[in-house]
Amino acid sequence: MNEAHAAEARLTRQVIDTFARTPDPRLRHLMQALVRHLHAFVSEVEPSEAEWMAAIRFLTETGQTCDGVVRQEFILLSDTLGVSMLVDAINHRKPAGATESTVFGPFYMAGMPERATGENMALTAGSPALVHGHVRDTEGRPLAGATLDVWQTAVNGMYSGQDTAQPHGNLRGRYRTDADGYYAIRTILPVSYPIPDDGPVGRMMAATGRHVYRPAHLHFMIEAEGKRTLVTHVFNAGDPYLDSDAVFGVKPALVIAYAERGAGDALAGRFGFETPFHEGRYDFVLSEQ
Ligand code: BEZ
Ligand code: FE
Repeated sequence: MNEAHAAEARLTRQVIDTFARTPDPRLRHLMQALVRHLHAFVSEVEPSEAEWMAAIRFLTETGQTCDGVVRQEFILLSDTLGVSMLVDAINHRKPAGATESTVFGPFYMAGMPERATGENMALTAGSPALVHGHVRDTEGRPLAGATLDVWQTAVNGMYSGQDTAQPHGNLRGRYRTDADGYYAIRTILPVSYPIPDDGPVGRMMAATGRHVYRPAHLHFMIEAEGKRTLVTHVFNAGDPYLDSDAVFGVKPALVIAYAERGAGDALAGRFGFETPFHEGRYDFVLSEQ
């Protein structure tokens, strides 16, 4: 190691040492590891001062692109760098048989309408669909009274709330399982859509030749007493973006094939479909808390 490199290594050590007396041991560990990895990154890539300023500008604009309501560019940055899925994987190591989780995303809204079993949550047009199944525990016992908070985009690829032209509560709702753990959601077939790409994250994706699409999916947050809350999606089989999700959220066990059903099908009568529709079935398994 030449003298210049030795001085750089001493600087890193000196900064790490300034955190040595942090009273909270977890905070001490986080700060020292952060400095170690950050300095290793800078030492490896040896940025010019112009590059470092560009990085500062990028992070500044990322913060300025958050509106405190629906736009959260830092979450988007974490998502597109795969960090959100890594945090999810670390925090949701599931027992065998439990349904896998995936990225939460920035478009959840609390307090959406309570909906009856089979109620239509689509207030805008699309290809009619039914998504139904059971929620059970890892022993196969039905979970009655579990809540399923559900959200998806309209056919224009935008969520209500994000797209203020959509009616309140469009393609969102809170469903409950019945005594058999059964749930049913009448909706429209999810479509693939781009993540917001008019900000710094979109520029990063374009500059690196990555596309910004997510494969078609329906979001779920499922809560049941005494069980771990499950945040996940159900993806449409056959979607062209399943292998290249912009936010790395796809897991094979979360992909379902929708079946075509006619207007004469028994399910059509039960749920009020007057035209052909798509049927997706998915059973969720919640693990213990
Ligand atoms: C979503 O699926 O809603 C989503 C997830 C991550 C980033 C952007 C959108
Ligand atoms: Fe989504």
